[in-house]
Amino acid sequence: MVSAGRCVGYGVRVTSSNPTAAAPWWRSAVIYQVYVRSFADANGDGIGDLAGLRSRLDYIHDLGVDAIWLNPFYPSPQADAGYDVSDYRDVDPRFGTLAEFDALLLDSHARNLRVIIDLVPNHTSSEHPWFKAARSAPPGSRERRRYLFRDGYGEQPPNNWRSTFGGSAWSRVGPNDQWYLHLFAPEQPDLDWTNPEVRQEFEAILKFWFDRGVDGFRIDVAHGLAKDPGMPDLGESFATSGPAMAGHPHWDQDQVHDVYRAWRRVSDAYPGDRTFVAEAWVHTPQQLARYVRSDELHTAFNFNFLLAPWNAQALRSAIDDSLGALASVGAPATWVLSNHDVVREVTRYGGGDLGTQRARAAALLMLGLPGGAYVYQGEELGLPEVLELPDAVRQDPTFFRTGGRQRGRDGCRVPLPWSGEAPPFGFGPPGSKPWLPQPSNWANSTVEHERSDPESMLSLYREALRLRRELPSLGDGGLAWLPASGDVLAFGREPGFACVVNVGERAVSSPIRAKVLLASQPLCSDGRLPGATAAWYAS
Ligand code: GLC
Ligand code: CA
Repeated sequence: MVSAGRCVGYGVRVTSSNPTAAAPWWRSAVIYQVYVRSFADANGDGIGDLAGLRSRLDYIHDLGVDAIWLNPFYPSPQADAGYDVSDYRDVDPRFGTLAEFDALLLDSHARNLRVIIDLVPNHTSSEHPWFKAARSAPPGSRERRRYLFRDGYGEQPPNNWRSTFGGSAWSRVGPNDQWYLHLFAPEQPDLDWTNPEVRQEFEAILKFWFDRGVDGFRIDVAHGLAKDPGMPDLGESFATSGPAMAGHPHWDQDQVHDVYRAWRRVSDAYPGDRTFVAEAWVHTPQQLARYVRSDELHTAFNFNFLLAPWNAQALRSAIDDSLGALASVGAPATWVLSNHDVVREVTRYGGGDLGTQRARAAALLMLGLPGGAYVYQGEELGLPEVLELPDAVRQDPTFFRTGGRQRGRDGCRVPLPWSGEAPPFGFGPPGSKPWLPQPSNWANSTVEHERSDPESMLSLYREALRLRRELPSLGDGGLAWLPASGDVLAFGREPGFACVVNVGERAVSSPIRAKVLLASQPLCSDGRLPGATAAWYAS
């Protein structure tokens, strides 16, 4: 078991003048990702909903974060868990109503929590009225020109592009009819972003939600909107998934940036520091930095940090390369360890006690770095990936489109355990059946259990976030690396903060001799850091 995460009795220096007080909130925010369908189920149908989220807002507030990001809750056939939107201006009845959303917004703002929602502009649902109209309309019609319809070669699709979820990226609307592009599932036809009607529609959607009071948008597949108009075959040098290499014919095309410049003009017209965060899976920090130029999106998820292996050199390079590239455009970094698309970090870092220790250290590393950070629901409980889901309950299209070769993303989407000794662990009312089964051994990972355990992951996150709010050195700003050996990362931040991470397995002496504010597990009595341990110091 992981033991004592916290060193009590150390004073925290708090200065009255916070140098970053005037900076916009999103430069330093910690944002909690709510995967709505797995957060809390108020009506007992097994699916999390907005009412459930509303009833648990105090938990999120007490955690000490600044904002929440909600995954899509719009009307949707749920072919890809809501990333197939059939109406961008409403709430799916499974999740609630527009009135419930407005109430959630009010309740969140009353707790000083900002609200970011998910915008899915690369594709609509195939049940969106636009696509329904396009199906029956003739080739070349206005209806078809909103999407990417092309002629194929007999029974062969127009090119060799592959769906991210497996299989061809092309499907037909009928025998002998045209093909349409879907970089994801066939139920997610890609829009044609060269069409002014598409652009106008999405600017109107942004305004619809900004007018309701949302604080920002997470932009789904931000690197995918523009396609090479020649639609050339994908050369062998390009992987079909994974971060996009420069020159790829449908990822990270230059033309996407024009869309974001237009959106920035929309957000800038609203009061109160509205913000965008880009989901852009690109290969280099330089590519990513282009999305956050001062007239484009505000921030972008830092996936190179997430993808870095548990290795001091790799982590330091990911940090340095990101900070360097982002500094050149004046944007803050936005660190992320997990989300609803990737294997949870406890499991990625090796699983079991070792994976947990590393994840605890990674949390202090992430929250000590300059910029903002995202916490994916359940990360603060130290949940592992659920690897043992039976095939019969899986829902991710990746699983089905690869014939099960890829297990898919259901394992990081299992509903949260809140309380009690057995499923549904307070996720829904007693007797309700969560949409994915929870492991029966999650009783020690419930919010209720971890809240009363000072050594739990939850207590570590709460304490780190509390310190982060108090210490003027944390959040936005810079970092100075301190000399440290091989497996150790050590950096200082002004005023008076240092973070040391021992990525290795053996105990090492710390380059810092100062008061320990917080440690991911108890330090040795002589001040050395055990393996897989991070500590924060008042330097
Ligand atoms: C993004 C989402 C993912 C979704 C995909 C298609 O990567 O995070 O969950 O499947 O886009 O919309
Ligand atoms: Ca429900």
